[in-house]
Amino acid sequence: MRILSGVQPTGKLHIGNYFGAIRQFVRLQDEPGNECFYFIADLHAMTTIREGGELRDNALSVATDFLALGLDPRRSVLYRQSDVPEVTELAWMLSTVTPMGLLQRCHSYKDKTARGITPNHGLFAYPVLMAADILIVRADKVPVGKDQKQHLEVTRDIAGAFNLAYGKELLQVPEELILPEVAVVPGTDGQKMSKSYGNTLDIFAPENELKKKVMGIVTDSTPVADPKPTRGNALYSLLKLFTPPGEWPETKKLFTVGGTGYGELKKRLLGLILETFSAARARREELLRDPGHVQAVLRDGRERAMVVISGVMADCRRASGVGWV
Ligand code: ADP
Ligand code: TRP
Repeated sequence: MRILSGVQPTGKLHIGNYFGAIRQFVRLQDEPGNECFYFIADLHAMTTIREGGELRDNALSVATDFLALGLDPRRSVLYRQSDVPEVTELAWMLSTVTPMGLLQRCHSYKDKTARGITPNHGLFAYPVLMAADILIVRADKVPVGKDQKQHLEVTRDIAGAFNLAYGKELLQVPEELILPEVAVVPGTDGQKMSKSYGNTLDIFAPENELKKKVMGIVTDSTPVADPKPTRGNALYSLLKLFTPPGEWPETKKLFTVGGTGYGELKKRLLGLILETFSAARARREELLRDPGHVQAVLRDGRERAMVVISGVMADCRRASGVGWV
């Protein structure tokens, strides 16, 4: 089975990215029979970052974090999207079979315009580039968070339209892979954790910064002695994510029985977060000392991705009549 996913290098990786995406990436590479492609979506990030140096640094930093979190370049192909310009060529081809209405209905576009962001063509065409990312390697499965489900539906529609025009088997129609139990990780304010909401717990934040953020998780004013609500309680959901399953009944009781203050529960969460990522932090320190290594991994990833991508592009060019055969 061929797996593909991408993450935009728009900022620091947070816990939502980890549970919603990266943890699955790492697990999938370990399953026998899987062939995994992961990429840093820097062309996508151009829709939000307008500073060249920042985008380039972020791309390298996200690649470094991926490797620190267990992505193994011997088992997965890790590359940077802009190192494969063919993806923009395929995006154009796909755009010629994509109905306007399909893109106008996308939440990502509608939400941004509703928030007053003046739309540009890149933002509008974003799902077509994402479809090209996926279809260019003929991926079977795409691990993503729940918020990306619609983009996968769009990808399937576009693949269907392209195949209808140029040949039934030309592009593989992919499916999303979403883990329902961690579908949406809440942020410190109880909304979905997201860079855009400023409510993140960053995986590699310095300890004191992380502590401040965890202590700032919004809670209600239930007295220490009383049982605490569990529904809609971000602290509860976050603790559940980090607590080993065997210890969960005991931790859950601290909420349902009462007698434990939110401050104590937050300290417990902080300890668990630091413990969960301590090995990754150490690996990241090592990688930061050798950025040349990370760049070499990305270059090698590009070469390996191109083996598949050259074949798919040759088929698409031949079928659509562009280029010489
Ligand atoms: P952000 O919302 O912070 O900008 P991205 O859109 O870059 O995050 O998301 C990268 C990946 O992480 C995607 O697969 C996305 O679905 C997943 N993801 C992001 N935030 C969360 C969250 N709060 N819960 C679960 N998954 C998430
Ligand atoms: N749109 C995705 C996000 O914001 C990132 C992305 C771009 C992606 N291309 C992709 C994810 C292809 C999976 C497959 O999170």
